[in-house]
Amino acid sequence: MAFNSKLVLAGFTAGSLLVYILCVKLEGPLSWSIEPLRHFHGFSQEPNSSSRDSEEPLDRKNSSERWSRPSPASTLHPQLPSATALQGNTSAHTPAPTSETQTAAEPQAPARSTSRSAAVGGTRGSTRGPTLKPQRSTEPPFIGDAYMSEDVPAQTNCTDGVRSRVAQTEFGGRFLRHIPVLQWANHVSRDQYLRLTQYPGAHGWEGVDYNTLVEALSVLNSSANRQMLDDWSSRSNGSECTRCAVVGNGGILKESGKGQEIDSHHYVFRTNGAVIKGFEQDVGSRTTHYTFSTNTLMNSMGSYAGLGFTGPPLSQETRYVFLPEHDRDYLLVKAAATHTAVERGRERAKDPTKYFGEDVTAEKLKMYHPDFTRYLRNRFLRSGTLKTKYKSIYRPTTGAVMLLAALHSCDQVSAYGFMTPDYKNYSDHYYDRNYHPVGFYVNHDMRMEMTLWQQLHQAGLMRLYMHK
Ligand SMILES: *[C@@H]1O[C@H](CO)[C@@H](O)[C@H](O)[C@H]1NC(C)=O
Ligand SMILES: *[C@@H]1O[C@H](CO)[C@@H](O)[C@H](O)[C@H]1NC(C)=O
Ligand SMILES: *[C@@H]1O[C@H](CO)[C@@H](O)[C@H](O)[C@H]1NC(C)=O
Ligand SMILES: *[C@@H]1O[C@H](CO)[C@@H](O)[C@H](O)[C@H]1NC(C)=O
Ligand SMILES: *[C@@H]1O[C@H](CO)[C@@H](O)[C@H](O)[C@H]1NC(C)=O
Repeated sequence: MAFNSKLVLAGFTAGSLLVYILCVKLEGPLSWSIEPLRHFHGFSQEPNSSSRDSEEPLDRKNSSERWSRPSPASTLHPQLPSATALQGNTSAHTPAPTSETQTAAEPQAPARSTSRSAAVGGTRGSTRGPTLKPQRSTEPPFIGDAYMSEDVPAQTNCTDGVRSRVAQTEFGGRFLRHIPVLQWANHVSRDQYLRLTQYPGAHGWEGVDYNTLVEALSVLNSSANRQMLDDWSSRSNGSECTRCAVVGNGGILKESGKGQEIDSHHYVFRTNGAVIKGFEQDVGSRTTHYTFSTNTLMNSMGSYAGLGFTGPPLSQETRYVFLPEHDRDYLLVKAAATHTAVERGRERAKDPTKYFGEDVTAEKLKMYHPDFTRYLRNRFLRSGTLKTKYKSIYRPTTGAVMLLAALHSCDQVSAYGFMTPDYKNYSDHYYDRNYHPVGFYVNHDMRMEMTLWQQLHQAGLMRLYMHK
């Protein structure tokens, strides 16, 4: 069976770059091996066949046979074990000669620069991207806690927003206000390619060929592609602060009656199998930002079609925010921007307007920067899974990336439908017809995410809907 192929997991030997040494064969009875391997297909050498991961199960009947994390209790109060050496701690790294690296020690003063930093994209003729100094044994190179920095003017002067408050919270030390949330045309260069191909999946460009990246990112070359809230000037209506509702798909939303409240925000973010029709009272009807990876979108369309998910929400105000984890995403974004069929790979010959509508334009498309996703993993969701053989398939969930991106883009954030400590009281999704327990997969750490949402809520950085 093809799914029984070996998973090549990232290994590390001291004093060298990434060395792949560990070959793990995932074995198990056929009855359950299909589903997990669909999701955990690892770093095979053939990127076209790798689906890597998804929080969207293909076959809900198999839920009792899902992989579980070994010790739930250990993640309820995450110690961020290896992360303690990093958070707010710059001693592990020395910024590289270019100003592309960025550490937690950046100045707290908000950026007021009116020009974009020359550092963007490594366009200043250096021959390499930032070079990480040899790192302490506590931090293997695959972590890569150094990121591009951009100097962009703040969109608002909100005095009561995340950015003005974060310094006073426990998150102050790890929050990077100049990290690019989105990647766009200027970000692709040979230097950046050398730097980012060190990191696989959603955390870098490993396995994506240079021409594919250039062709995809060059379509993302307008201000709308680099700004999350690109139409703020036409929306602000005198408001000093941007208000965003971020809507997960959790069962806590069922019969919540929160629809109107959600829709009253300036922006409404949704993700993956976001079924709206029939649930407007509870989840609202607007979508300004829809976040997905090509893999999770295709899985959602497969898994939740019967529950009413027919594809990404379509409306004049909807933007599509790709979480790239594979060359599939770069191929699809290019096809969508140019109204051409996907040229190769799993979605070959597919018509992108089937997913994003006939009037999709490049200006409606955005794509998370792999530095941003890696930063979220390293500084907010550094799961113990990174110390196991599953480290290479671990990433924050799509919903977590969406929520943390909102916290880096909006002044005020309300989160709905995200996991809460009483999650067992609710079905997995608000649109489930019958109670269906939340599923845990080794490629995500949803208990750690749940704890993070509690901490962000308690720190006053967002408002988390908890049904009370
Ligand atoms: C930085 O890391 C070192 C070594 O892990 C640790 O001793 C020190 O307390 C940390 N500093 C901060 C500010 O966290
Ligand atoms: C914020 O305030 C500064 C200084 O008063 C001003 O130059 C800038 O235009 C303001 N920005 C916005 C988005 O209002
Ligand atoms: C992006 O747009 C700028 C300005 O219009 C242009 O100079 C540049 O060549 C474009 N970049 C790409 C990759 O198309
Ligand atoms: C704009 O603000 C005014 C006054 O605050 C309010 O009456 C009006 O409904 C707002 N318009 C929109 C489109 O939100
Ligand atoms: C959740 O369920 C537990 C027991 O099943 C119950 O004690 C508790 O009150 C419930 N909480 C809510 C918010 O319904």
